[in-house]
Amino acid sequence: MTLEITTTLTATPTSDARLAEILADPGFGTHFTDHMLTVEWTPEAGWHAARIEPYGPLSLDPATAVLHYAQETFEGLKAYRHADGSIWTFRPEANAARMARSSGRLAFPVLETDDFVACVDALVKVDARWVPEAAEGSEKSLYVRPFMFASETFLGVRSSRHVTFMVIASPAGAYFKGGVKPVKLWLSEHYTRAGRGGMGAAKTGGNYASSLAAQDEASAHGCDQVVFLDASEGRYLEELGGMNIFLVYGDGRLVTPETGTILEGITRASIIELAQKMGLQVEERRVEIDEWRDGVASGAITEVFACGTAAVVTPVGELLWDGGSLATPGGPVTAEIRETLVDIQFGRTDDPFGWTHQIC
Ligand code: PLP
Ligand code: COI
Repeated sequence: MTLEITTTLTATPTSDARLAEILADPGFGTHFTDHMLTVEWTPEAGWHAARIEPYGPLSLDPATAVLHYAQETFEGLKAYRHADGSIWTFRPEANAARMARSSGRLAFPVLETDDFVACVDALVKVDARWVPEAAEGSEKSLYVRPFMFASETFLGVRSSRHVTFMVIASPAGAYFKGGVKPVKLWLSEHYTRAGRGGMGAAKTGGNYASSLAAQDEASAHGCDQVVFLDASEGRYLEELGGMNIFLVYGDGRLVTPETGTILEGITRASIIELAQKMGLQVEERRVEIDEWRDGVASGAITEVFACGTAAVVTPVGELLWDGGSLATPGGPVTAEIRETLVDIQFGRTDDPFGWTHQIC
């Protein structure tokens, strides 16, 4: 299906002066563009009423299903301004495909890839002046957040018969305060994120709600993010609250937990392809947490990094747990992967994979 998107522009766009102030230091997820996109779904009409309107609050009935049963999915991708002023996203069709998989798990209708990409493109185009300049080394971008929620007013527990899909956007700098510096991770030994048959592979709010107590524990221990282990044995590395993880071996191997209960990161998948092209040997498999401890102790593991759309590629400097800690040395592999990926995203180098998608 091809959606017809109507556009109503705001009468009060953010002033150039205020926008310049925001883009000078956007932070993450704090400021929002002038417009938002909305599409509705019902069983009778399918996806319809696609529209771009001035950004503003929603009015929801207190009995709106998502507020009670958390039937929700979301995505995250970025729009990058290249040096010639053009604006591009990175693998948006992969986000569309993942949202379709999340929709399957959350009992939502699927929004087709073409429609998903068209919605993202349309909002970014209308709010193009919110995409930061591509200053060398700054890595600022426009973070785009598509999301879908159960908007039927009904308290019975079943899949919603009214669904709303929206896209909002927010200029973004570094996800972690302090920019690209090694982060500290807290190993959660009490909380787990996902079990077999659960929602671990879906990008749904509930997974993040369940990570917050663990994330608070991480913060209380001075850590930036929490690391989760598998739910059945508490033995295998899964992922962080909002990122995937890779161990780098000095012998040229890159090891990352296999998929199933983790979010299949688009950054993760891209790094796997990039690393193979760089001549590294990638292993996607179960990874015991002791492999990390032993590998660092023996010197076999030389680097550890986290990755995701928000975090890009971030070196991990330290792992802490109740009663212990472990420092991971930094090294060149993380930096090279990060630079290669970011250069493709900002159009500073060729894109042999065809990952970038031009919007305007
Ligand atoms: N894992 C979790 C739990 C996440 O929230 C994210 C971020 O979206 C990722 C991994 C990385 O996914 P992606 O690279 O597609 O952003
Ligand atoms: C993303 O990287 O897009 C995420 O959704 C992760 C979240 C920590 C912002």
